[in-house]
Amino acid sequence: MKLNIAVLAGDGIGPEISVQGVAVMSAVAKKFGHEVNYTDALCGAAAIDAVGDPFPEETFRICEAADAVLFSAVGDPKYDNDPEAKVRPEQGLLAMRKKLGLFANIRPVQTFECLIHKSPLKDELVRGADFVCIRELTGGMYFGEKQEGTEEAYDTNKYTRPEVERILKVAYQYAMQRRKHLTVVDKANVLASSRLWRKVAQEIAPQYPEVTTDYMYVDNAAMRMIQEPTFFDVMVTENTFGDILTDEGSCISGSMGLLPSASTGSSTPVFEPIHGSWPQAKGMNLANPLAQILSVAMLYEYFGLKAEGKLIRDAVDASLDANVRTPEIQVEGGGKYGTKEVGEWIVNWIENNA
Ligand code: IPM
Ligand code: MN
Repeated sequence: MKLNIAVLAGDGIGPEISVQGVAVMSAVAKKFGHEVNYTDALCGAAAIDAVGDPFPEETFRICEAADAVLFSAVGDPKYDNDPEAKVRPEQGLLAMRKKLGLFANIRPVQTFECLIHKSPLKDELVRGADFVCIRELTGGMYFGEKQEGTEEAYDTNKYTRPEVERILKVAYQYAMQRRKHLTVVDKANVLASSRLWRKVAQEIAPQYPEVTTDYMYVDNAAMRMIQEPTFFDVMVTENTFGDILTDEGSCISGSMGLLPSASTGSSTPVFEPIHGSWPQAKGMNLANPLAQILSVAMLYEYFGLKAEGKLIRDAVDASLDANVRTPEIQVEGGGKYGTKEVGEWIVNWIENNA
């Protein structure tokens, strides 16, 4: 297969993990005889500094023309601490989602047996947890009409029927491929938008008789996720709830540096770690590249290249088993490995296995 990949490395640790993601992508391509072409493009603070726009038109054109985007992270504290800042790096991410029509954000929460002790939850609760959060990504409060003000301010949580229908369909398709259990998460006891979600879900559910659908209020879902994470198989929810719940979900695994995600929709799909740009660690060779590397696995799998994805997952498991780990998950007495060393070890494993 021939793949054109737009590489958006962004800010902070983004460029370091991006290099490792690309190296793994190339190693797998070589092994399976795929041709991959990469085009780098600016986004986030790096793009603001260079051209004054966190998602420049040229980047949009490169993304649109590509088969997939490999995204790393955006964000820089110099903007967070400046209330006068007119543009922020995060706006680049939101613009990318909107312009590429990326309405479905797929965030798997899985555990690695050898890292269960790193989870803040008890081992017996975490063991076997394996679910996917399908977060709606281009609607709700993030994009609704808003009013800024010092005395009054608001954000509008608007959803239309077609927006709800299309994300529910994605969720049901995932549920059909998995354990056939979908949890629709909303706040239908209070919010009108949530009542629309629930109404549409109740209409669609009979089309998937094999799937058990249940409905859960978001506050209850937040609690259930830490009380019994194994309860969930696929959960689907609106943009804001999904943002919050997936950060909670990432804790279950033991490190945010492990979890990849995919965003899909009407145009080019984007694959990215769920973590942010960790500016304090920029250039220090400390960041865990696994979330980025697993995003490459999701990318291959998206194109139906299952063996390619599996090879990456096997390589990641092997690296963890061999204690080739970045500091935040390092075992006592284990060797010292940075972003680069972990990435290189995985590339080497791919070249020499299967
Ligand atoms: C995420 C992030 C973004 C979001 C920010 C950086 C705008 O937290 O991808 O979850 O809120 O969607
Ligand atoms: Mn978030």
